[in-house]
Amino acid sequence: MRDTTAPLLDVAGLKTVFHTRSGDVHAVNSISFALEAGELVGVVGESGSGKSVTMMSLMDLLPRSAEIVGGEVLFEGRDVRGMTRAELLQLRGRDVGFVFQDPMTSLNPVFTVGRQITERLRKHMGMTKAEAKVRAAELLGLVGISDPERRLSDYPHQFSGGMRQRVMIAIALACDPKLLIADEPTTALDVTIQAQIIELVRDLRRKLDMGIIWITHDLGVVAGIADRVIVMYAGQIVEQGPVRDLFARPQHPYTRALLETLPKVTGERSERLHTIEGQPPSLGDEPTSCPFAPRCAHAFARCMTENPFRVDVGGGHDVACWWDPETGEMRDV
Ligand SMILES: Nc1ncnc2c1ncn2[C@@H]1O[C@H](COP(=O)(O)OP(=O)(O)O)[C@@H](O)[C@H]1O
Ligand SMILES: [Mg+2]
Repeated sequence: MRDTTAPLLDVAGLKTVFHTRSGDVHAVNSISFALEAGELVGVVGESGSGKSVTMMSLMDLLPRSAEIVGGEVLFEGRDVRGMTRAELLQLRGRDVGFVFQDPMTSLNPVFTVGRQITERLRKHMGMTKAEAKVRAAELLGLVGISDPERRLSDYPHQFSGGMRQRVMIAIALACDPKLLIADEPTTALDVTIQAQIIELVRDLRRKLDMGIIWITHDLGVVAGIADRVIVMYAGQIVEQGPVRDLFARPQHPYTRALLETLPKVTGERSERLHTIEGQPPSLGDEPTSCPFAPRCAHAFARCMTENPFRVDVGGGHDVACWWDPETGEMRDV
């Protein structure tokens, strides 16, 4: 039964481990967040922070070596981890659309783009061949591909990188998903094309009321499109909040450092990019201390012995850190 009061997506205490020859890798460590229908959440963090594995865990798209060892994933109130294979396929094919960084890994090179879209429409929307063809051309038009009827008979390699990413978005949107998960969809593209794709998603969002999870390592990208931002570090959410509030008063030293890496335009020149010193921790053990502490200029003794829980700082904004940037002291928690 669909629960209409439930958020679109509700994730609680999600944990995912890779079993490798050199031991377990704790890639996702008790992730909890919710997404409302129509909301756009940006997920940011350095490479290796667990963004992709978290999203793959949601719909059980993990490689064989990975195991979800805890937590709950509810989609419109329905328990995803308890779904049958058929229910899961239906959810992935119809209710959730995915866009990945490299469209060539997701597009099939030997079939025309038209066929790849129409197959999905026929399978999940029960359309006839003719109906699916009309809708497929409509979708290509929607994502800004000109002469869409003709382009249906082209193969993926006949599209440029930016156009292929648009095709991927068209496929992801084919069945009117309620949730779109875009994993670094513009990272492989040049800056101009990247801006066009971001503009496209902003526009689509207004037209189609869907929830979007937009993963990127670039805080600058989410600033322009997200309602809310989740900051990940070492497989954990270290801070999350409404985009304006998060940029106006970043709480976590890691978020603050990420913000400092953004180029600031001062006059005509951009300042040199800062980088965050130190390395992310190895994920061989589940963290029992703050994973950022070794790189943190503000760490207290307590941070070395206890992993901070998320503290509400008001306005729907919370942070997993005990240092209070306003006072420079330990938070009173
Ligand atoms: N196939 C794998 N085998 C073992 N560990 C993996 C595998 N894929 C990812 N990981 C681990 O999970 C962590 C998170 O990876 P990922 O979610 O891909 O990071 P992100 O998307 O934030 O760059 C990585 O740091 C890595 O240690
Ligand atoms: Mg990734």
